[in-house]
This record gives sequence, structure tokens and C-alpha cells, in this order.
Amino acid sequence: MKLLAYSDTGNGDALVWLHPFPFSGAIYHRQREIEGVRHIVPDLRGFGGSELAAADHSIGAHATDVVQLLDHLGVENAVFGGVSMGGYVVMEILRQTRARVRGIVLADTRETADTDEARNSRVKLIERVEQEGSAALVDAMFPKMLAPDSYADAALTAAVRSLMLETPPSSAAAALRAMAARPDSTETLRDSDVPALILVGAEDAITPRTDAERMQRMMRRAQLHVIEDAGHLAMLERPEAFNEHVRKFVRDLQ
Ligand code: MLT
Repeated sequence: MKLLAYSDTGNGDALVWLHPFPFSGAIYHRQREIEGVRHIVPDLRGFGGSELAAADHSIGAHATDVVQLLDHLGVENAVFGGVSMGGYVVMEILRQTRARVRGIVLADTRETADTDEARNSRVKLIERVEQEGSAALVDAMFPKMLAPDSYADAALTAAVRSLMLETPPSSAAAALRAMAARPDSTETLRDSDVPALILVGAEDAITPRTDAERMQRMMRRAQLHVIEDAGHLAMLERPEAFNEHVRKFVRDLQ
């Protein structure tokens, strides 16, 4: 696998941001405003500027790609932050390589594997994406992405839609298959002593607050904050509140 495309901005301890589906690292443009931190933001394979490798498309492969990028950059350890699918990759990195993880930010995500029902709807979405292209992603996912009031923000909705449309159908299908096959991370979180910041939009309709509360209960060192007036993309909908929690968390780790 070629090295992932990435951005590397700011100075300080490394904070690696792993993006949700079906987006790219560009979705974290507001988080890069957090000062005193080195933001490393890859595009996971198949997304943004990163090519889709033919073989082994799995959440484990995403994690390996990210660790390979950190090796290339000479970054020993980092805080890993992930929204939704990015969170699945964070949990996989924790499982694969705990020694490199200083802390984790899990936002609008969950530790459980897909239910049979979720897998079936991924299969249907793959079929649609293969027939209709990336517009099918917008059609199926956009109505659930944001808190109801966020849909009034024309600039926000345009940015979200256009990032979704940029995802090539083949990459979307591969990532949907990878998410459907991902393992349950309950034991990984339960056994871990890593400091964790858990964030969730109060109106997240995809990975609701109950998921965040469950993750907090199972972890030894997790704090949870609910972001008001935000849905599944809390980091874009309420970047100030989101960033403030991250800034404090990272500062307290130093
Ligand atoms: C995401 O936002 O990354 C996806 O909704 C995650 C998923 O489909 O499980």
C-alpha cells in the first residue's frame, strides 16, 4: 500500500484525526484550529487523495495504513481521534498497538459490531452505490447526518453533501464491506486503561447518546460530554464546543 495522503499542521504533541464515512480528512478543517497540537490528518484508503488498494480492505488495514504513516513521519505515539468510522479505526489501533496510543477521542461512534440488520442495509446500500453512484450515499445518509436545526445552515449542508459526492463508488462499497466485517471492540475498551474523551451530538441519530454512555461506563478512564444542538457530525456542527473539550483533554494529558 502506498502511503496515505495526509495533512500535517501545527506544533506540539501529535493528534491524529481519522475521518467518518463517506468523507475524507478535509472534514476536520475546523479541528485543525486547535492550537498547541500537531494535527496529522490522513485520508483513509480510497478516500480523498488516498488510493483504493485492491487487496485487504478492512478496518484492520486502515489501522495498519495509519501506523505506517506515523512510522514514515517518525511519530512514536499520539492521541488518536475518530468520528464514527474513524472511531472504529481508533479502536483497532488501540487493539493492534496500544504502546503508541497516549489517549483517544471517540466521537459519535460505537464499539459494537454491526447487527445482522445493519449488515443487510449495508449490502443494499452497496448495490445502490454500484448502480447509481455516490448520489445514493447522499440520498441514504444525508437526512440522518445532522441535527434538525443544522439543516438550515446552507454552507454546512453544501459542504457535507459535496464531500459525500467526492467519494468514489468503488471506495464507498469497499468501506461499507469493511465496516460490516469489523469486530466488536467491547473487550478492547473494557481492558484498556487509556485516557479517553467521548463526545456525542445530543441529536445524533446514527450513533446515539446511549452508545456513548455505554462506552464511558465500560472504560476505566473515560469522560463523556454531550454536544448540544448537534447530530452525527458534531465536530462540524458545533466546532467551538467540540474543540474546547478536545483542547482541555489534550492539555491535561501533557
Ligand atoms: C460514519 O459516519 O462513519 C458511518 O455512519 C459509520 C457507519 O456507517 O457505521
